[in-house]
Amino acid sequence: MSGAIRKANEEDLERLARLLRKVAGADPGSPPGARGEPAAGSGAAARVLDLACGDCREAEVLADFAAELSGTPSAEVSLTGIDVRAREIADAARRLGRVREASEGRGRREFEFLTGDATKLPGLSQLGGDFDLVFLRHQNYWNGARDWEEIFDHALAKLAPGGRLAITSYFDKEHALALEVIGRLGGELVRSEFNPETRRLGTPGKSIDRHVAVFRRKP
Ligand SMILES: C[S@@+](CC[C@H](N)C(=O)[O-])C[C@H]1O[C@@H](n2cnc3c(N)ncnc32)[C@H](O)[C@@H]1O
Repeated sequence: MSGAIRKANEEDLERLARLLRKVAGADPGSPPGARGEPAAGSGAAARVLDLACGDCREAEVLADFAAELSGTPSAEVSLTGIDVRAREIADAARRLGRVREASEGRGRREFEFLTGDATKLPGLSQLGGDFDLVFLRHQNYWNGARDWEEIFDHALAKLAPGGRLAITSYFDKEHALALEVIGRLGGELVRSEFNPETRRLGTPGKSIDRHVAVFRRKP
């Protein structure tokens, strides 16, 4: 990867972190601690599930975000990433390692990357449920609506009580379609934001984390 691409990716992640904070800060019913109060019964690691994560460049940003959501930036976080592409998953595992001990104000981080089909999530028994945050970066609804409906459905089912599902999209239309289908599947939109700093890509109308939306499960 060239230095220019690496720098562009890093800047994308900084923008993603800002946007996630903005969306969470505007979430009146966000999980305990998301608005600055310590989480009740804190101590357990926050759990994050990143579906269709590719090589999971966003892993560290997401883990920090989940710790902030828990109300304790130094909270422990365990993150599981899943993608069908074995090579990307191997890259993520190599890059991030399995465990990072607490340092620089961050709590311990545990990363796990699985090659698997997210349409078959209920069959992955080792995964468990009760994730505080389920994330889908650059969801790809346009490219196989039926599969992505299944993935969204499983994503909502994996949420802990009070948990949040967050998605980002490359395109306006694809984002609108995803909002519609997640709503139909039982997600309640908390907030959707256009990313004013989004980095444009070569394809017209396509840009990095162009939109971010956060959902909770409808009561
Ligand atoms: C647009 S890419 C986004 C990748 C990554 N989240 C990112 O933002 O760079 C869509 C990803 O979905 C993955 N994917 C597609 N269908 C999948 C499925 N059924 N289960 C798991 N991953 C899937 C692809 O392998 C690809 O990595």
